[in-house]
Parts: sequence; C-alpha cells; structure tokens
Amino acid sequence: MRISVIGTGYLGAVHAAGMAELGFEVVGIDVDAAKVTALADGRAPFYEPELEPLLRKHVGSRLTFTTDLAAAAGSSVHFLCIGTPQRSDGPGADLTYLDAAVGSLLPHLRPGTLVVGKSTVPVGTAARIADLVEATGAELAWNPEFLREGYAVEDTLRPDRLVFGVRGGGAEVILRQVYADAIAADTPVVVTDLPTSELVKTSANAFLATKISFINAIAEICEVTGADVTTLADAIGHDARIGRKFLGAGLGFGGGCLPKDVRAFQARATELGVGDSLKFLAEVDAVNLRRRERVLALAAEALDGDVAGRRIGVLGVSFKPHSDDVRDSPALDVSRRLVELGAEVRVYDPVATESARRVAPHLEYADTLGEAVHEAEVVLHLTEWPEFRAADPAALGTQVARRQVIDGRNCLDRERWRAAGWSYVGLGVA
Ligand code: UDX
Repeated sequence: MRISVIGTGYLGAVHAAGMAELGFEVVGIDVDAAKVTALADGRAPFYEPELEPLLRKHVGSRLTFTTDLAAAAGSSVHFLCIGTPQRSDGPGADLTYLDAAVGSLLPHLRPGTLVVGKSTVPVGTAARIADLVEATGAELAWNPEFLREGYAVEDTLRPDRLVFGVRGGGAEVILRQVYADAIAADTPVVVTDLPTSELVKTSANAFLATKISFINAIAEICEVTGADVTTLADAIGHDARIGRKFLGAGLGFGGGCLPKDVRAFQARATELGVGDSLKFLAEVDAVNLRRRERVLALAAEALDGDVAGRRIGVLGVSFKPHSDDVRDSPALDVSRRLVELGAEVRVYDPVATESARRVAPHLEYADTLGEAVHEAEVVLHLTEWPEFRAADPAALGTQVARRQVIDGRNCLDRERWRAAGWSYVGLGVA
C-alpha cells in the first residue's frame, strides 16, 4: 500500500515517518520547500525526540518528501495533516490551508482510493470535504490524531485509541489495514460517523484544557486562603474518577492545540446556535490567561512593585518541556510582557531558543542556565524542563543578585531551594 501524507508539520512529519516504520511506502508532501528539503535530508525541521532516527532509517528507501502534489497520484490512501490555526480576525479555525490542500488533491484522486482527514476541524468540515471527495469516486474518512508533542512518535506508533469516522463504504477496511499493528496490540477502535469523530477530538482537547483551568482556578482560591494546590491535587487525584493527570497547576496551557481548539470549539458552537453549551470554555480560557498576570504580579512584588530596569532570569520558553514549539507559549508571553514593562530579561531554554528567536528576536537569550540567572534579582521558572528541576539551587545562588525564585510550574523542590537560602513562591502553593 502506498500512502501520501499531505502537510508535514508536527503531525504530518511524524505520521509520515511512523507509516514508513510500519512498512508502507510513503510520500510526504508540503508547500514549504525548506521543510521538505530538511525532511528529504533526514533532518527534523523541529525538535521531536525519536523523529530523526526514524527519518534517517527510512528516507532514501520507502520514505520520500516533495513539494509536488502530483506525487500523491500513485497512492491509495491520502492523509490530510494540514494545520488549522486560529483565524487572525477571530476565535474560529482558519481552514484556508486545509481547503487549498483538498482543492489541489482532488484532481489526483482515483475511484477506490481513500482520503483520511487527521487535522482538528470544526464539526461539519468533514461532511463538506466528503462531498467533494466522493464526486471523484474516492472516499473520505476522519481519523483524528491525539499525539502529544514530545511523545509524538510513541503516540503515533502506539496510540491509546483509534477513532474512524466513516460514511460506510470500504473506508473502515482500509483503515484497519493501515493500523493493523496497533489493532493487533489491542488498541481500542471506535468506528463512528464523521461528525462524532470530529467532535471526539475537539471534546478531548476541551476537556483537557478544562481540567487544567479547573485546578488553576482552585490555585487562585488557595492563594487567598493559604492552602496548597499541589497537595490538594494529589488528594483529589487519588479518586480514580478524577485522576491526578492534567491537574498540574501553574502557568497554564499553551501550544498549537489546546488554546486555539478551545476558542474554535466555542466559535463553532455559536455558529450552530448552541453557543451557551460551551460558554464555560470562555472561562477556561480566561482562567488560563489570568495565570500569566499572576506571574507578572509576583515578579513585580518580588522587585518592590516595579520590574522596570530590573534584571530577571527566565527559565524556559517553549510551551512545554521536550518541545521547541513556542506557539501560544505562556513562558514566551510572560517574557515578552516583562520586556514591554521595561525589565532586563534573559531567557534560557535547552532547545527552544532558535524557534523563540524567530518570533521574538528582541528578547535576550542566554546559552546556559547560569548565564540566564547571572546577576538576576528574581528567577522565573516557566517551563518544566528536567534540567531546571535537576539544577543545584546552592550553586545557582552564588550567581544571582537576589535569591528569589518564582516557580510558574510548581515542580521545583521547594524545601531544597528554601534550604539554599532562596525565597520560593509557586502558584497556589504554600
Ligand atoms: C495536546 C493534547 O494532549 C493532545 O492529545 C492533542 O493531540 C494535541 O494537544 P500538546 O499540545 O502536545 O497535546 O500538549 P499537552 O501535553 O497536552 O500540554 C498542553 C499544555 O498544558 C502545555 O502548555 C502544558 O504545560 C500544560 N499543562 C499540562 C498544564 O499546565 N498542566 C498539566 O497538568 C498538564
């Protein structure tokens, strides 16, 4: 079976490499020539552990990359892995890239072939695309992707569930062939209609975002009562119905998925006349953004009320560890805002410096953790990289001007930092 993967961003590049690892002949297609050149050279255009070894293993044999969409013509399955970012003029999803890709693919479709949408889309999009695809004699299925950045290869090869949105026909049989290995390993398969499959993805991300904002709202209560949100999360997390995962209070969620998916879901519900049903997601978004204000306020408090002209060391700029993605990164947002307020900010991130520099060239980036905290009057821990948790607070204490740390991710060992003479403040922790 020959497979094409259209769109080679975080999702598509990993999916293409994953499909090659499963033994298929794969062509990855993207309009971005620089990305295609890197991938065709066996290089990952972004940081994703485990991706590059897979690329190197299969590029040159069964995995190729090109900018020419005509290369899709020989495939029997075409995966759509096109980004659906937030529109520049509102909260909804921007479908122009996806629509353009589908429009260009249509002339290359043959009867009996299958187009599989993986992009996260507003409910109703798949049915609209299905009508276009079916007019060529091909079929459309929707197969949402749940991969987490940083674990994308693992999540692609060993997904925790498979969702096939189909309109009948032969789509399910073909999808079962594509995912035969995962199915043989007892991965649950949910076969459903197109709108349910689209909603599974947006609901999953809305739920995860809600869980994070729930605990962050509780953190706000903890802050005015002296309670400790981490202990509270441990305690409620023991209830199997609640679970401890995604109850990490702190600076909140960011990235290329949760923030824009929460907004697009609300926008779509409003279009459908059921905006009230998802009104709470506006609050989820608001709680999330308020955590950034809280860190800014704590930084000002640590610096006698004003950050202007004061030196601040920032640890982390990616939206989460094990990724160089800075899209909607809370850490990058806080760093930028501090600079706007006149602070002298020095940012260090183990891998995301280059991607941050591209979008925020005016920030000052340090090459090492020590350089970032040198002479700092307060240190902000904003992305929970293992390097920061492992750092020795006693050694760092000799480099700073004042031993003050604000732990925006509530995961430094506060006893150890306090024992080394630091004043430690977390978000909602005592
Ligand atoms: C998410 C979904 O997890 C994934 O299933 C979907 O396919 C794409 O969106 P990802 O964006 O890679 O994946 O990141 P995720 O690990 O979910 O983290 C999202 C954000 O939430 C990060 O900024 C992270 O720091 C934050 N987070 C996560 C918290 O603030 N607290 C937590 O307890 C967990």
